[in-house]
Amino acid sequence: MENYINGFSKFSKEKKIDWIAQNYFAEPNIAIQLIKSYWNSDEKLQQLHDDFIENTITNFYLPLGIAPNFLINGKYYTVPMAIEESSVVAAASKSAKYWSERGGFKTTVFNTEKIGQVHFMFNGEKAKLDAFFSKIREKFYEDTAHTTANMQKRGGGIVAIELIDKTAVLENYYQIHATFETKDSMGANFINSCLEQFATTLKKEALIYADFTSQEKEIEIIMSILSNYVTNCIVRVEVSCPVTDLAEKNIPNPQEFAEKIIKAIRIAEIEPYRAVTHNKGIMNGVDAVVLATGNDFRAVEAGVHAYASKDGQYTSLSHAKIENDLFSYWIEIPLALGTVGGLTSLHPMVKLSLEMLEKPSAPQLMQIVAAAGLAQNFAALRSLTTTGIQEGHMKMHLGNIINQFEASVEEREAIEHHFENHAVSHAAVVTFIDNLRK
Ligand code: MEV
Repeated sequence: MENYINGFSKFSKEKKIDWIAQNYFAEPNIAIQLIKSYWNSDEKLQQLHDDFIENTITNFYLPLGIAPNFLINGKYYTVPMAIEESSVVAAASKSAKYWSERGGFKTTVFNTEKIGQVHFMFNGEKAKLDAFFSKIREKFYEDTAHTTANMQKRGGGIVAIELIDKTAVLENYYQIHATFETKDSMGANFINSCLEQFATTLKKEALIYADFTSQEKEIEIIMSILSNYVTNCIVRVEVSCPVTDLAEKNIPNPQEFAEKIIKAIRIAEIEPYRAVTHNKGIMNGVDAVVLATGNDFRAVEAGVHAYASKDGQYTSLSHAKIENDLFSYWIEIPLALGTVGGLTSLHPMVKLSLEMLEKPSAPQLMQIVAAAGLAQNFAALRSLTTTGIQEGHMKMHLGNIINQFEASVEEREAIEHHFENHAVSHAAVVTFIDNLRK
């Protein structure tokens, strides 16, 4: 109970920082100084960030990198990526350039629908519930008209409202399963507002429905919430080229290379331990662009991994084949993204990222994000099946180790020069720095 605190959210920012510093840090003044050193000197900008969440004490930096040369459906993009992992932007850039010389990424958005559900309990006759639902279906549309009007103007709105019987798996459990089109917005607030109105309408109408018994009138709403499992919001991205065109300085035998990539993917298709890491590599690219463009990467992660298990076993999201000497390689993933609303019009770096992408529509952003995922997967598989992953990783990691030792400009030059021809490991760099400083 020592550090239990009441009414913390009501404290001023200064008081919150003071409380944290006094309670958790051996040297409170140093902690306060560090926290404040990450404040933006532009007070208005800082206030904007403070207001994104509750109890903000400072900012938490992530690098924003850019990966150029993403040729997607014949158009070049420079892709912003917010990520801390040292090799990701380098890998994406390398893959993008490689595939830009081989026709680029070809993408297709299959659909852009989102799903939301009202989960409720009905203790009574199913046939009566069906009849009631048909009778009040129009009411759901009428009662949400104030919420849907603007969305309809943009070409979106409620696509379908269904009653689903789940009583075989949970006693008395039914759902209103609704499908929405939210155009360029991610649409979470829109969907949840509609769903909560559906729940109110359902309950209210049940209470006055003459055919229901008094027990049937007492529908119990459990919750109303969108689903992040967006199986109707799917994008596919593919690269392909004749096998011989895969050749490059470091790919002397393209046939062998292609076959090894395909075997690596087969392993991820059948072996969940590998599939999770394989897909994590895809998400390195996906999340970095999702984050840079102000989208909800937790939602994307949850939906993508669920999709990877849709056939009952967790499996690879990417696939590859050779057919008539043509190597093709693709992923298909669900991505519910927005390019308007939410953080997209608030966060200056998000606005910058979207402008860098030439203000894409949500479907265009789905294609860019998916291409970043495929690029990342290709870079990982290429390293894994040829040099091994550590060579590239450790080269990128070298910079972090140098920073950790606060190397001078001369020391940095000497270290970088030495490790151009020597294997990088933490221990080897430390020994080299020690010898330099002796
Ligand atoms: C590391 O962040 C991602 C990889 O592990 C992905 C993979 O193994 O495919 C390299």
